[in-house]
Amino acid sequence: MTVNEPVLRRVSEPAESALAARRWWDAGAADYQAEHGAFLGDCDFVWGPERLREETARLLGDVTGRRVLEVGCGAAQCSRWLAGQGAHPVAFDLSAAQLRHGAMLNQRTATAVPLVQADAQRLPFADSSFDLACSAYGAVPFVADSAAVMREIARVLRPGGRWVFSTTHPVRWCFRDDAGPKGLVVESSYFDRRAYVEQDGAGRATYVEHHRTIGDRVREIVAAGLVLEDIVEPEWPDDLEQAWAQWSPLRGRLMPGTAVFVTRRGRTRSAAPAGSARAAAGGSARR
Ligand SMILES: C[S@@+](CC[C@H](N)C(=O)[O-])C[C@H]1O[C@@H](n2cnc3c(N)ncnc32)[C@H](O)[C@@H]1O
Repeated sequence: MTVNEPVLRRVSEPAESALAARRWWDAGAADYQAEHGAFLGDCDFVWGPERLREETARLLGDVTGRRVLEVGCGAAQCSRWLAGQGAHPVAFDLSAAQLRHGAMLNQRTATAVPLVQADAQRLPFADSSFDLACSAYGAVPFVADSAAVMREIARVLRPGGRWVFSTTHPVRWCFRDDAGPKGLVVESSYFDRRAYVEQDGAGRATYVEHHRTIGDRVREIVAAGLVLEDIVEPEWPDDLEQAWAQWSPLRGRLMPGTAVFVTRRGRTRSAAPAGSARAAAGGSARR
């Protein structure tokens, strides 16, 4: 959270949210990579601030020889790890500056992961062109239309292909975005779907995050023709003292900070179930 900027909860439409995300990540990519690069590793796959690694979690299953799409890849650390496991990753992000860091790391590690600039709500990939898709906090917390992201991923996955993504645990939205004791007090409704918005003096959004309840996420997944297999809530490890913004040892030992949704595309494309739109559309996330 940027203290000087007015912060509020309000509706933020897809175009405004995407513009804010692109500008924010373009402007902040260098600082983000400088601050978090060591935690992330150049060729490592970490699902979130609790340091759950794909190397131990194996939520994607066997990746050898698989075509994998990394969504909102940042500097594509996860894809470089996947390439080292014998997968064929393609990494995309909205931010050109984040992708430039990806290109630098590709060069530094001599790992040529293809990098693409795209918005997760409209993917420039063919139907059924990937075996797996994954995202560690990429895109999903920042998009106004996460249902569209689920549909797009389902479209580009082959039938039966897995889509695993991590995002801020929905329960965190009840609490103040504070790593300390103030962040342990419920201050807002879990059911308030309005976005968290920082804006400039003219009312233009400069940073936006979107909230979905657990039920909202499940409905968006199911409506896209995906099957939900698991929701992993990584626990804060005893030996981890390093905080990541609002994700701190104090809070992490008391409540979940990350939710990892493990889904797969159904064998046949299903229509959206009746009533799937009944959930109202619509903290600060990882940055
Ligand atoms: C918290 S970073 C996560 C990236 C990486 N997994 C990591 O841990 O550093 C979020 C990323 O999502 C990207 N992003 C935000 N909105 C997006 C969108 N609509 N489509 C694609 N990427 C998006 C941002 O540019 C940023 O690189």
